[in-house]
Parts: sequence; structure tokens; C-alpha cells
Amino acid sequence: MSELSVINIEDYPEQQTRGSLLEGQRYTSKTFMDQEWEGMWTKVWLLLGRESELPNPGDWQMEPIGHEEILMVRQQDAGVKAFYNVCQHRGNPLVEDNKGSVKRFVCKYHSWAFMPDGELNFAPDKEDFPEGNPCGKVRLQEVSCETFAGFVWVNLDPNCGSLREYLGPIWDEWALRDIHTWKRTLANSMWLPCNWKVVLDNFNESYHVPTVHMGATTETNRKEIRGHINTYFKETRFDLSDEGHNRMIMEGGYGVGSTDKEGNILEPLASQLKYWDLDPADFKHKPEATREALQQAKRKLGPQRGHTHYDRIPDAQFTDAFHYTLFPNFAVSLWSDGFHFLRARPHPDDPQQCLFDNFWYASPASLESGSERNHGSSEEAEHAMLEYGSDVSIGPGIEDDVRVFVTQQRGFRSRGFKGVYLSNQEKRIRRYHEMVDDYIEGRLPN
Ligand code: FES
Ligand SMILES: [Fe+2]
Repeated sequence: MSELSVINIEDYPEQQTRGSLLEGQRYTSKTFMDQEWEGMWTKVWLLLGRESELPNPGDWQMEPIGHEEILMVRQQDAGVKAFYNVCQHRGNPLVEDNKGSVKRFVCKYHSWAFMPDGELNFAPDKEDFPEGNPCGKVRLQEVSCETFAGFVWVNLDPNCGSLREYLGPIWDEWALRDIHTWKRTLANSMWLPCNWKVVLDNFNESYHVPTVHMGATTETNRKEIRGHINTYFKETRFDLSDEGHNRMIMEGGYGVGSTDKEGNILEPLASQLKYWDLDPADFKHKPEATREALQQAKRKLGPQRGHTHYDRIPDAQFTDAFHYTLFPNFAVSLWSDGFHFLRARPHPDDPQQCLFDNFWYASPASLESGSERNHGSSEEAEHAMLEYGSDVSIGPGIEDDVRVFVTQQRGFRSRGFKGVYLSNQEKRIRRYHEMVDDYIEGRLPN
């Protein structure tokens, strides 16, 4: 894709939905959960690991997805391979932790030892096997694995297409950013008492934002509650790709929420303007004018200040929130120098629980200068496993959503709930549920 076409931000093709009735049982039924597993989870590309977790040959990361555990391992040739975390002798899992580094994976049951490339290298009493010495013959069960944007992606379908094909336009848009160099500044996960789709539904619409995040009531004029981002649906851009992924672009509108009563620009916008050599006083009473001014200043000064990707991304990306949902379970708010990574994974066997991941990443240049709204240091943040309901904060911008996830799941159990009634701006929800159905019924996207 040429630089020019990205700067113009192409529309995705128009998508039709079927008006399917989306009932509560999709979120509560074990039968539906099993259909999703067989039809969908085992057929899609999943963003599962991060390359920076695996700097050297033999380094590994293990992540669960449903009842499977996937081992991602850095190879001698600098590539990454993925395997099911299961010994091919009698099925014991090979590792119990989430990451580590090995010369060989040694099973704790009978000491079979597998090399990082999956080949069995040692078995006690190897001459005692009627089918022959298993060493050099038996291998770990491999899973399709690719890397992109610094992440490790896996697909449990042995006949899957390429990741690039699967990601469609997302590949071109993300390849222009230097996402692989961005550092994790906060990372926590927790089991939530709700189905994984409750989480993804929420990230597939911004209709809830005024109520859940901005204190809007029935009396509120929805056009006049802009904070740092303009959430008004008529001024928000929604795109649905053929591959089942979605994009939403909300202008960094810097509307009424960005000034005090006298019209002075408030923090953090004021500091951001100063960093980019703009005087907040020049924007008194006209916060909307900061959008274009910031775009121009970042375009001009960014590359010389270490923001290496600024000459490749569209103007809008300097100020606006680009929110993507990648089918089936990954959502991300992406701006010029960082992103908020949100993912929900199914529980091994309970449809009313999911593993929720909440990570933040930031560009090295923004961490060094403090120029953007990123927090943290340039060290990769440690991953924390939290417990839902404890007092520990899970980080900004998300606690309000989590509260609603849990109450909504209760509602989905009610016989009194007969199915959703969706607005147009919630079309992405219907579309991805219909994609789930497509996978279950064997209609995979081309
Ligand atoms: S099950 Fe792994 S060595 Fe026997
Ligand atoms: Fe939200």
C-alpha cells in the first residue's frame, strides 16, 4: 500500500449483516461454547505472545487458549515455533510456568527431553520400545505460527492460510508503525465472571462511552460532552473489513472537556502543546483548533525527535483514537505513540468465565520524552495476575467497563432477556457475532 493511500485512510468495503437474533444463551450455554471451540477457535489466527519475551534461542512463553496451552519458542535461526504443551510420551504437560528458557524441555514424568525445535532428543531406556527408538523420530505437535508487529500469532488449523491474508487491511496499516519496538508499560490479567464475547461486544461499540465513562444521564446533550476524544457517533468513523475485523476512528476533538470555564486549555493537552512548541494561550476559547495544529507540529518535528514512524502515518493518527477489533478476541486503541491492548480468552470449560488481558504499550521516543499520554518507564512492565473483586486497580480507562461486563452477564442468564436490540453504531457487534456463526456453520471468509 502506498504512503499516500494510507494518509487518505481508505474506507473498508461496505458489509451486510443478516439481522440475526442474538440471545443470552450465546453467552451462557456450554453447547454453544463447544461449537465455538470446534468451529472457530481452532480455525482463526490468535495474537498470543510477544517476541520481546523471547530474545534468545531456547526462550519460551506459554499461553492458554480455552483448554489448550501453547508453547512459543525462539529458534536458533531467530524464528519462532509454536507447539501444544504436551509430552508425546503419555501426555503430561511439559511446562507449568508462563515463561522461561531451556536447552531442552524435560518432561517431569519420565524425563523425555525435547529440543527447542520440537525433536525428541532423549528418552530413558530408548532401546526398550517395540516401535523403535523414539529419539529423532517423535516430535512435539507443532502449531502454525507467524510473527507480526512484534507479536507471536498462532493458528490451531493445520490447513490455515497466511496471517497476512487473515489480517487483510490491518496488516498494511500496522506495518507502517514501528509497533514491534514499542514497550509494554503495564500488564495485568484476571479471570472475569463473564463470557469472552461480553468483553468484545463492549469494545465493538462506543455507544456506552458517555454513560459508563463520562457520567452522562438522560438529560445530557450527547453532542456537548466531548472530553479529549469526540465520541459522537455522527462524527465517528466505522469500518468493517471483509476479513471480519473492525476499525473505528474517533477524532481527538479536544472539545469542551479540554478547557476550564475561562477557556484556558487544561492538562494534559497544555503540556502536550508545549512539547510540540505550541503555546496553549494561543488556543484559548478554541480547543478544536489544537487538532490540526498538533498534527502539523508532530508531522514537522516528530522524526527529528525520535518518533521514527511519524513520516509514514496519516495526519489523523497524530491526534485521533484508532480503535481496532481483530476477529475474534483482540481489541486495541492505537494512537501515534502507543496502544491499549485488550483481549479476552475463553475459559477451559465454563462459558461464564473468561481470561481478560489489559496491557499498555508505548513507543520508546514517547517514554523518553514524556510527550504523550503514556505512563510507565522504558523497562518492559512485569505481568501481574490479579483477582477480580480485589482492591487492586487494573489501570486507567477500564474499571468502569469491567463492572458492566459482570452485571451484563447476570442479565444474559435471565429468561426475561429475549435478544439484543442494536443501534446502527453497534453494527460491529452484530457483524462479529455473525462471523462466529459463519465459522461454526463452516462458512469461513475467503
Ligand atoms: S509423559 Fe512425558 S515422559 Fe512420560
Ligand atoms: Fe468502555
